[in-house]
Amino acid sequence: MGDESNMIPRGPKLRIGVLGSAGQLGRCLVRHIEAADDLDLAFAATRDQIDLSDFDQIDPWLEAESSALPDLVVNAAAYTKVDSCETEKELAYRMNALAPAEWARRCLQRNIQFFHVSTDYVFRGDGSRPYREEEPTDPRTVYGSSKRAGEVAVLGTNPSALVVRTSWVFGPGRNFVIAILDQAARRRSGELEGPLKVVDDQYGAPTYAGDLAEALLLLGRIGRSTASYPSGLLHLRNAGEATWFSFARAILDQAGYADIVIDPVPTSAFETAAPRPAYSLLCMDRAVAAGVIMRNWSEALAAYLKSLDVPRNLLSNVFSNGWGAGGEETRGIAGSDGITKTSATRPEAE
Ligand SMILES: NC(=O)c1ccc[n+]([C@@H]2O[C@H](COP(=O)([O-])OP(=O)(O)OC[C@H]3O[C@@H](n4cnc5c(N)ncnc54)[C@H](OP(=O)(O)O)[C@@H]3O)[C@@H](O)[C@H]2O)c1
Repeated sequence: MGDESNMIPRGPKLRIGVLGSAGQLGRCLVRHIEAADDLDLAFAATRDQIDLSDFDQIDPWLEAESSALPDLVVNAAAYTKVDSCETEKELAYRMNALAPAEWARRCLQRNIQFFHVSTDYVFRGDGSRPYREEEPTDPRTVYGSSKRAGEVAVLGTNPSALVVRTSWVFGPGRNFVIAILDQAARRRSGELEGPLKVVDDQYGAPTYAGDLAEALLLLGRIGRSTASYPSGLLHLRNAGEATWFSFARAILDQAGYADIVIDPVPTSAFETAAPRPAYSLLCMDRAVAAGVIMRNWSEALAAYLKSLDVPRNLLSNVFSNGWGAGGEETRGIAGSDGITKTSATRPEAE
């Protein structure tokens, strides 16, 4: 990580503002902040409250006299629909590059720390060993290019910002785990037949949004307690590696669907508007040196499956204890676009 910034705390607790609070990572950040004794939620903004593409909406949240004034802003908002970015280039760049840079600039002006989140898609994706932060980027998609432009713009504008790259995120909302469970549940009910088909030649690391949120907040705490925040580029993801096929197999096995068959297929079996990286494992050495250890994705998956974020009707009996009636979040998932395909691969959202 690069230079560190000094910051004067605004109160006894670290006050954090979250952008994109309805997304997978955003929701986890809000929950963890609300549950922590040493953190205060300065604001949690959904798209309705702050539309990132409208820069006029920034200043009121960062005014010195605002009761919502944060010490740290974490940007969990992004245009994450990888395939749609190919045709919505302008919007992708505005959301993923211009807007974060504008937030980073205005945070710097007010001595507010800024954490931004980026992606493994900034790399070419043809490597064979984990990508280090300083390795050359070469995105192959509009989404990846817009996110890379965001990294450059954020750090160019605000060198004391932190840009965290992550990969294959699952958490509250629409994601690959939910898509696979939906496919399994439909086969169990007889609605669908035949094996699932899942890509087995793309390598990466699944990352639980809850663990990513905790890691980001740990970095915030470290920054506050040492009065010098981490800055520059940092990779954060769960430990271990997987293909989409091996991830899907683990999902089914852990959720009580060991009998559901999956056929491993090559990437060429599914056409997507944006190509997916064949290899996008992110090296975690720098995170470990900074004091962030993340558990294996398989353990994180088990925690996620036990959480209320996974609708109970998508699970076999294994986790029937401890379930609530299902909140709005969980009800919202079942009808989402990403899980209605007959052959599950990767949902359109990253
Ligand atoms: N998901 C992955 O697999 C993955 C992998 C690598 C990196 N990342 C990065 O990790 C971060 C978090 O990802 P995630 O999975 O939590 O994403 P997500 O669930 O798609 O959430 C993104 C959030 O951004 C919000 N948003 C979109 N346009 C907006 C706008 N104009 N103004 C304000 N908010 C807007 C969305 O609002 P709506 O709810 O209204 O749409 C959504 O709540 C992103 O930076 C992403 O690029 C994700």
